Amino acid sequence: MTVKIDVLVVLGAGGDLTSRLLLPGLGQLLASGQADGLTLIGVGQDALSDDEWRERVTRSFESGAAEGAEPSRVAAQTAWLTADVTDAEGLRSVIAAVDGTPAFYFALPPAVAVAVVKTMAEIGVPEGTVLALEKPFGTDLASAQAFNALLARVVPENSVHRVDHFLGKSTVLNLIGLRFANRFFEQSWNRDAIERVDIVFDENLALEGRAGYYDHAGALVDMIQSHLLQVLALVAMEPPSTLDPDDLRGSIAQVLRAVRPQDDDPRRSSRRARYTPGTIGGRRLPSYADEKGVDPENGTETLAEMTVTVDNWRWAGVPFTLRSGKALADRRKEIVVTFREVPHLPEGLSGRVGPSRLRLVLGPDRIEFDVAMNGEDDPFQLDQVTLSAEFGAGRLGPYGEVLSGILSSDPTLSLRADVVEQCWRIVEPVLAVWRNGDVPLEEYPAGSAGPAAWSAVPPKA
Ligand code: BG6
Repeated sequence: MTVKIDVLVVLGAGGDLTSRLLLPGLGQLLASGQADGLTLIGVGQDALSDDEWRERVTRSFESGAAEGAEPSRVAAQTAWLTADVTDAEGLRSVIAAVDGTPAFYFALPPAVAVAVVKTMAEIGVPEGTVLALEKPFGTDLASAQAFNALLARVVPENSVHRVDHFLGKSTVLNLIGLRFANRFFEQSWNRDAIERVDIVFDENLALEGRAGYYDHAGALVDMIQSHLLQVLALVAMEPPSTLDPDDLRGSIAQVLRAVRPQDDDPRRSSRRARYTPGTIGGRRLPSYADEKGVDPENGTETLAEMTVTVDNWRWAGVPFTLRSGKALADRRKEIVVTFREVPHLPEGLSGRVGPSRLRLVLGPDRIEFDVAMNGEDDPFQLDQVTLSAEFGAGRLGPYGEVLSGILSSDPTLSLRADVVEQCWRIVEPVLAVWRNGDVPLEEYPAGSAGPAAWSAVPPKA
């Protein structure tokens, strides 16, 4: 049954996530006419007046270029509640202010989120309540399992929306249409035709004031354990028979269960590094270890790479390399599928024949396909040509998509409990060898392409 949410209650609404990502996404959704009649309530420990909160909401809607009658109505009517929702009395006062079926969005630090869910388990929540939570979901497999068990005491699994905004990105969503609505791709989407897959998310941003969180997470947990493994799942999963939450998430869970560090050897299939002083776009950065709020003793990596295999008939032996880092020269965010060389080239045909590569670029969303074609002057002298198409302009942004699922109580694009647990299972062997010091923490200057020796990611066209 699909329950329509009447009230969106943002817990921790005074924070950066709410104003920078959540409210602009909500504004877009309201402007698109997909959340008519919604009531918004902001909750936090700060003593804001309704007017101050309304002003913030209006500014965030504007930053998401959300205009129209619905965004204006919601911004004019929204209320602010000052409450400590880890406390039973505080939470009761918030629940009492809700008229209709609520979605509680946890824009809270992880430890506070767990405390609030404990309080919810104690006092109960209204029928039909949806809980929307941000990563990290636990800090390892055991804590994720414990958190999932706690959530199950509050609402049914399909009412828990573990948010991964990457599943709201058009390039990621587009994997489903691209693979399953084009015979051409799906027929060659396997070990016979594909040599390797690289999922790269290199950022030129650095810490951006997030040391308190990032210094305990690091690039592996911040990006690979969460987002990039979801991308891998959509690249590698078997076709679901429908896109309902059970079928799609069933396919995702199934493929993740088959993922292991390459050769079952995380010492050789993972690398880590952190940045030293450097310059990015004229901005001088200190070394990561000297960034405000960082404890160098934590040994946190700002660049992580791991290569995994998917142990099934479709993918046996094909390496999937997942890599993400901060403070790099190049903003490179793409899924690169490298096809195998042809088995034979007719004699007489020569020229530039590289492997065919499909690149799915994340923002601005684009598909590029490198293919060998007859050259312009000599038809048998081959040339490598890139076919490309842009798409996704005008669509909702990732948080608009995420909120659209939450407000229609449709968990299809959120992470199911077992999916989160699988992601921890996959990275735990890597975290263990890193903790043990078995994989050196290398260095790279901020603004560089990473450590000099790291050149295995397929080159750009
Ligand atoms: C977040 C990570 O989940 O995703 C950040 O915590 C990262 O470190 C961000 O920068 C990247 O997502 P986007 O959508 O901003 O490119």
